[in-house]
Amino acid sequence: ISAEKQGYKHFMLKEIFEQPARIVDTLRGRILLDRADVDLSEVELDAEWLAQVQKLTLIACGTSYYAALVGKYMIESIARVPVEVDLASEFRYRTPIVTENTLCVAISQSGETADTLAAMKLARGLGAKGLAICNVIESTMARETDGVLYTHAGPEIGVASTKAFTTQLAALGLLAVWLGRRRGTLDAEQAAVHLDALRTVPTAMEEILTDLEPYAEIAREFGQAHSFLYLGRGILYPIALEGALKLKEISYIHAEGYAAGEMKHGPIALIDEEMPVVVLAPRNGVYDKTLSNLEEVKAREGKIIAIGADDDNELRRLADIFIPMPEVAEVIQPLVASVAVQLIAYYIADFKGTDVDQPRNLAKSVTVE
Ligand code: G6P
Repeated sequence: ISAEKQGYKHFMLKEIFEQPARIVDTLRGRILLDRADVDLSEVELDAEWLAQVQKLTLIACGTSYYAALVGKYMIESIARVPVEVDLASEFRYRTPIVTENTLCVAISQSGETADTLAAMKLARGLGAKGLAICNVIESTMARETDGVLYTHAGPEIGVASTKAFTTQLAALGLLAVWLGRRRGTLDAEQAAVHLDALRTVPTAMEEILTDLEPYAEIAREFGQAHSFLYLGRGILYPIALEGALKLKEISYIHAEGYAAGEMKHGPIALIDEEMPVVVLAPRNGVYDKTLSNLEEVKAREGKIIAIGADDDNELRRLADIFIPMPEVAEVIQPLVASVAVQLIAYYIADFKGTDVDQPRNLAKSVTVE
């Protein structure tokens, strides 16, 4: 077992560090630079049908559901198709509006999650075409659908998902460009910009992985906290949710992810000098808004852990602990920032001495309802 961990203390840490390479694997052969396009010929969906799709419905559970939320931002902004996102366990028990012009995209690392399989079956039964974004070749999901887009995360052992999540995000970025090009809603110039951005992910991840000092400090300072708040806006809102989930899963500390702009409608009541608040604030279209939310936390003496651009001195000044991330295009910020929130959870859990790879009460794959 220790040999399989390749010198890392836990599988989770090994899998966090593997991410740049697994993103390379997931992008490999799929980016056609000369044509500013994406090759997903492996996805057996009819091009004519795709060109007239009216809506995408993304369904998933757990961490994969947060990938779906990021997918909505990516696909709507890049391909300009309406995207609905639902938890598989909710979707299957409501009366969803699904037509023959709906593409149902199920996202599942294992391809065996019972609720996700049932939701996909329901959507296809109502006439939708199904596309699975999946990490396990020949899994049930991969077999029971119309097309499959594989992530190449490799086997993930840690129960808390890391590399499976970021490769799902990479696959969703490819899907967004692919759809936009097929539908004629994305021109070559814009496609090239997004594809270039995707290609910078591995290097940006490497960079964030070189400086681990902030995480050790966070564990020392806040390892005994009872509750954490994670704030993000726009495409980083789902990463606030995922960051909070990771912390709950492996450190058993309560954490809540919130859209930063919604803080004033509730969570602000919780903020005091005892409350660590993780703020995702790289420069992007909602940077100024996020910063003013952060000031509101500061005014109430909340403790700020900020993730932002390396040279952002204003943010550095406001933060109790600062996690620098390289300056990257907004569309890939979720992939890079994910690494930081994974490391926050990992370092705190390790500091507390929990069973990081096998957290209590959780299973890697939930094959019963
Ligand atoms: C379990 C795992 C999570 C995972 C979720 C969905 O709860 O512990 O890490 O996100 O199932 O799994 P899937 O295989 O469908 O992505």
